[in-house]
Amino acid sequence: MNCDPVFSVAGRTVAITGACGLIGRAITEAFLQRGAKVAAIDIVPVERRSGSMYDGDRLLHLTADITSAEAIEHAVERIRDSFQRVDVLVNSHHYKPRGFTEAQPETFPEELWDAIVEVNLKATFLTCRAFGRAMLKQGQGSIINFASTYGVVSSNPDLYEGNTLGNPIAYSASKGGVVMLTKYLGAYWAERGVRVNCITPHGIENGHETAFLERFRAKSPMRRMMRSDEVVGAVLFLASDASSYATGSNLLIEGGWTAW
Ligand SMILES: NC(=O)c1ccc[n+]([C@@H]2O[C@H](COP(=O)([O-])OP(=O)(O)OC[C@H]3O[C@@H](n4cnc5c(N)ncnc54)[C@H](O)[C@@H]3O)[C@@H](O)[C@H]2O)c1
Repeated sequence: MNCDPVFSVAGRTVAITGACGLIGRAITEAFLQRGAKVAAIDIVPVERRSGSMYDGDRLLHLTADITSAEAIEHAVERIRDSFQRVDVLVNSHHYKPRGFTEAQPETFPEELWDAIVEVNLKATFLTCRAFGRAMLKQGQGSIINFASTYGVVSSNPDLYEGNTLGNPIAYSASKGGVVMLTKYLGAYWAERGVRVNCITPHGIENGHETAFLERFRAKSPMRRMMRSDEVVGAVLFLASDASSYATGSNLLIEGGWTAW
């Protein structure tokens, strides 16, 4: 695919966590279509979930639980064995255990808090630490974390009235943590060639119930949810030289949700 060289990711090695997810699949495809080498990492076996995905020698499937520092070190080694280096890390994982929609903070279970924060925040730290170390040795790299509007503004309880959905305190708190972790690392590694940024998407439409969609539309400046392909451009921008002066930033791709 031809594009302005400043936006090119051809030949770059990109590690993607949560590669089987809604966004993970869209960005894995996008990088492969543009000539990048991709290490697709997920706790569920990537081979089984990848469907029509490109399946040549530019795609490495890695099944790993990224709450384990050891599993992440092993993934970094496998990627370097296969592709010699790692230029980009996209952290696109998160965890929705049973009970995720439980929204009452006053009764929110501690085990659920621990499980969500461990994947969303701690695993993001662990992957940044391990991949960041490899990138610092190379003197070059770009890390892209996924935050959420709910890491910038609170989840609005009105959205979930009269439907079965909900968004818990542990999700918002962990995503706010991802924004801060990004700023911290962006500042610490700026002089050493490793850029760290995050993207804040809003709700991606994925068969949501009508009662929720109606409430969402009423509160959204664009009157609609997002499509997963609408986040791809932001990821390619942060992975490419087009964003060479961006670090520690939080790129909002949320249809204006936090603008009013
Ligand atoms: N989809 C949305 O509406 C939306 C909105 C705002 C922010 N986000 C953020 O964007 C990112 C991607 O979201 P998504 O909708 O693609 O999520 P998703 O639930 O579709 O996919 C998440 C993936 O993470 C993987 N995962 C979970 N625990 C793991 C672990 N311990 N080790 C390895 N992999 C693990 C899951 O198996 C899954 O494939 C997430 O960080 C999410 O918080 C999504």
